[in-house]
Formats: sequence, structure tokens, C-alpha cells
Amino acid sequence: MLEAKDAVKRAKEHGTVIPAYNIPYLPMVKPVIQAVVDMNSIAMIQVARVEWEKFGSQSLEAVAEEYKKYMDPKHTLLHLDHVPVIDEDMKEVDYMPIIERAIKAGFQSVMIDASRLDLEGNIKATKQVASAAHAAGIPCESELGAVMGHESGPRIPYEEIFATKKGFTDLEEAKKFVKESDCDWLSVAVGSIHGAVAENLRNQKKPEARLDIDHIKALSAATNIPLVLHGGSGINKECIREGIKAGIAKINVGTEIRQAYESALLGDEKNVEAAQKAVYDKVCEVITDMLCIKDTRSLLYEG
Ligand code: 13P
Repeated sequence: MLEAKDAVKRAKEHGTVIPAYNIPYLPMVKPVIQAVVDMNSIAMIQVARVEWEKFGSQSLEAVAEEYKKYMDPKHTLLHLDHVPVIDEDMKEVDYMPIIERAIKAGFQSVMIDASRLDLEGNIKATKQVASAAHAAGIPCESELGAVMGHESGPRIPYEEIFATKKGFTDLEEAKKFVKESDCDWLSVAVGSIHGAVAENLRNQKKPEARLDIDHIKALSAATNIPLVLHGGSGINKECIREGIKAGIAKINVGTEIRQAYESALLGDEKNVEAAQKAVYDKVCEVITDMLCIKDTRSLLYEG
């Protein structure tokens, strides 16, 4: 059975990446896992709170149950994505019970997102979750800086975000954060944006994002822990490859596979098989063409 902390550590050492695929609809679990196994790859299956609140994944327990039907212990891991302390609608979330439910349901790593708090608040919340995760023997991811895109308010044009470095993770803060929060992996804001989740925007194509590679290198050197890239869909491919070499060891991919599912489903539940096939094809494409990580199972564990 894979262990999340070990898999991400190995990815960093080998200059490769563990992708984490989001599950906004339960029937996506099966084709995602099938593609990962067929490509001899390694990946996390993950769900964020917003996906059971605003999409169709029902609950973290429902995803865990679906995962257990199809999981392959040599290729897959189960991760809890964004549990926000303040959510995308600026509402406070009672986050500890969610983390505890995930641990009970068998998630192998968890993320706490306290990035809408100030630095001290973020450290405090992360420490609390990291301590619960570590007591259960699993790693904790957290976020520092603002990876934009989930907000329901007006969107800032992408070029403005990149040019002004709006929300980018601060180097000095990152050093302090990692030292004091006890997190295992850090999600950083370095140019990527999340695909929109607001109902009126979620079908839009994402603008192509770029990454500040020098900033990733500096963050990696300053923190010395694996970095996580959120908003993995629709990033310039060259930037992704450079970003991985610079210290990104986990990448989240959501919109790309969700939109493939939704457009093949065409609002008709009878089309689930076609939608699953579209997800399978898209995950194969992400593995071979976008991330170039076919055969990571052999590279990380048998090579
Ligand atoms: P995308 O939907 O932009 O791929 O981002 C996914 C993500 O970062 C989930 O945490």
C-alpha cells in the first residue's frame, strides 16, 4: 500500500510529480483510477468541500466508499482537498469535524486551507489540523498566499494577477509558516489560478496560466518541503515541466476532467458511460501529454 508522504517525497527527489484528480461527481472515480493504473502512474483521488457542497460528490464518505471499490494500492491514494477555514463565499467553516470525519473514513492525507486568514491565524489553524493528522499517521497540506479563482465575486483578469503578482506567496512568510505550522506540503501561489466554481462561470474555458519559475525555486529552497500547485488545469505546458523541476511535487487537476465529464454527459444521466470514457481519455492525456508521467510507478518504486 502506498503512503502519501513517501510518494510525494519520492516524486520531489526524482523531479517528478504526483497529480491529484478532483472528484466533483462520483462516477468519475472509476475512470480516473482506471487511467492511472493503465498508464502505470501514481495519483491521488481527491475531493474538496466545495465539490460536495456545490457539485455532485455528495460527501467525503461517499467519495471514500466509491474509491474503495476501485482503488489500486500500488497506484492510488485518497486525499482530502481544500477544507477552507473561510470558504469561497466568505463564510466561516467548522473545519475540525470535517478533518476528523476524513481521518475516520480512511483518507491518507488532508488539506487545511486557512489562506483567507492572516499569517498568525493561518499558522494556528494549520498547526491544529497538522497535529490531528500526524496523530493519525498522515500528512497535512496547507496553503499560503492566494490561489485565486474560487471566489464568487468579480474575477480579476489573469494578466493583471500575473503582472502584479497578486496574492503570490511571500518568501519570508513561507519560511516562518513552514517552521511554525508543522505542515508537510505547502500549496503556493506562483501564477496558477483555480477553475471557477460559481454556477455561472464554471463552464468557461480557463485562461492559460503561466508560472513564476524563479519564485518556485526560491520557495522550494526557503521551505525545503514539497510544494503543491493548485489550479493545475490549463497551465502552459512548458511552465508545468519547469515548475516540477523547480520543486512542485503534487499538482491538483480539477476543471480539465470535470468539464470533459460534464460536456459528454450533456445533462443526461443516461450518458454516464460516455462521460466516464471522456474522463478516462482526458486523464490519459494529462498523464502522457501534459505532465509526461507515464510509468511513474516504475520510476518511483521499482527503478
Ligand atoms: P483546476 O480546477 O484549475 O484544475 O484546479 C484544481 C485544484 O486546484 C483543486 O484544489
